[in-house]
Amino acid sequence: MKLSKELNDILVEQVRRELESAQVYNGMRIYFKDANYPGAEQWMTVQIFEEVLHAEDFINFIQEIGGELPSIGAIAETKCEYDSMLDVFEHGLEHEFYISDSIKACLEQAIEDKNYAAENFLRGYIDEQLEEEDHFRTQVETLREIGDNKSALYKYDEYLGTRSGNLTSPNGAVFAFYTGPQGGEE
Ligand SMILES: [Fe+2]
Ligand SMILES: [Fe+2]
Repeated sequence: MKLSKELNDILVEQVRRELESAQVYNGMRIYFKDANYPGAEQWMTVQIFEEVLHAEDFINFIQEIGGELPSIGAIAETKCEYDSMLDVFEHGLEHEFYISDSIKACLEQAIEDKNYAAENFLRGYIDEQLEEEDHFRTQVETLREIGDNKSALYKYDEYLGTRSGNLTSPNGAVFAFYTGPQGGEE
């Protein structure tokens, strides 16, 4: 099933957006490191690898289906300063909404083209985005409840540090080498 030029272009743009997501989250990880939140730093480290894995998955798909990948667009300048842990996760949630919209646009193109292989591939990412939004929304809600209770915040940071580094993309791409700075559980 050949890719239309429109679908090819939008999928290549999605590769760039997934890599940009990794970069956005790396900016957040840098802030957490600076602000001394080792747990949140670990959580964000896993998130960075997950986004790179999504990019790999899109690259694999484009190549498998005989698409073209002549170049990947530039990644925007990255913010590394935030006001608080809550501020980070609010920005993260906004970013995931933006990515969800762009996955939907890819899916709409696949449907218009009647490209069923692309449709199957992209539906995996519709589900993935629901999970991603849910993760970030949960952190935002919890951090709003914690407010300026410092001891609750440090406890929550510890909890965030338990996020595992077991990474598989919705379509099966795997990074098997990851071990987190705190040796997250499988
Ligand atoms: Fe992603
Ligand atoms: Fe994401």
